[in-house]
Amino acid sequence: MVDAYQPQDRDRALDRDCMTLSRHVLQQLQSFSADAQDLSALMNRIALAGKLIARRLSRAGLMEGVLGFTGDVNVQGESVKKMDVYANEVFISVFQQSGLVCRLASEEMEQPYYIPENCPIGRYTLLYDPIDGSSNIDTNINVGSIFAIRQQEGTDVDGSAQDLLQSGRKQIAAGYILYGPSTMLVYSIGRGVHAFTLDPSLGEFILSNENIQVPEHGPIYSVNEGNFWQWDESIRDYTRYVHRHEGYTARYSGALVGDFHRILFQGGVFLYPGTVKKPEGKLRLLYESAPLAFLMEQAGGRASTGTQDILDVLPEKLHARTPLVIGSKEDVSLVESFIHEQKREEEDKLAMKR
Ligand code: AHG
Ligand code: MN
Ligand code: MN
Repeated sequence: MVDAYQPQDRDRALDRDCMTLSRHVLQQLQSFSADAQDLSALMNRIALAGKLIARRLSRAGLMEGVLGFTGDVNVQGESVKKMDVYANEVFISVFQQSGLVCRLASEEMEQPYYIPENCPIGRYTLLYDPIDGSSNIDTNINVGSIFAIRQQEGTDVDGSAQDLLQSGRKQIAAGYILYGPSTMLVYSIGRGVHAFTLDPSLGEFILSNENIQVPEHGPIYSVNEGNFWQWDESIRDYTRYVHRHEGYTARYSGALVGDFHRILFQGGVFLYPGTVKKPEGKLRLLYESAPLAFLMEQAGGRASTGTQDILDVLPEKLHARTPLVIGSKEDVSLVESFIHEQKREEEDKLAMKR
């Protein structure tokens, strides 16, 4: 006769495989309330979008009409790739008839997109960058998607979406999907940062790293040094500093999600400062900088414009850009110290002239 079955006999791997994203959200919230169920369902839909995009990317080189440009230019003035359009539509599609999201605002759309049938009940807005690093696609290098969820405030009858022009502290949840050697989804609902890996055999994102903490300091600095000639002297001074000191190593993939992910796990700093051509830098506050700042703060790191915490920045418009310095606390502070130093010198010079 077999002894009575004990729950502790259960295979550890089986337990691990059961920690799906939707279950994890409910566990984090310790509730089965309607709000908790909504957030769990929302994350599940985002995960579905991630799986659809990952599936298309995995066969991109074999399919017609996946790689390359559409010939259009988006609201950011950048050439649109076919995958940008596909991924943008995937996020809209997964939220149709979901009752969850009334409005989606994307880097690829000039105005927010409304799903009227959801609006009486869907109180959330999804902000997203459908494909981050899209110039990597044609050469089969990693890309990502970035998202944030905000509560919809006010009735927004005129469709102006003015309530979105608030700080990143208004984000309820944020995260990204990294399409790399494996597909990973990293998220936070303000209770730590957690990473899930897509198990293709299950078609599910399974918890792989819980409560990720970024090191206080790390070796990596991640910046496009091709812009050196376009930078402010303070950023040049910072790069000269890391060139002349032992213990630093450069990594830059051209996709923010990938560079951020490496820093989240290994420590260091990612920078996209202002340039001559783009004084506010390249990255968009609502779809890129603020969601990743939310994650980085939750992981014990920092995100700054160089002079202000990213999460405190108020966007002037939907597609506003900000300079971004993000990563380990000590490394972000080091970059900031060069910026402050230059500001102080400029002020001293001005005072001398008076
Ligand atoms: P996107 O593809 O969404 O426009 O974002 C590209 C961004 C970001 O992913 C990356 O860090 C940065 O652009 C790279 O820009 P440079 O080529 O100017 O370094
Ligand atoms: Mn991007
Ligand atoms: Mn993009």
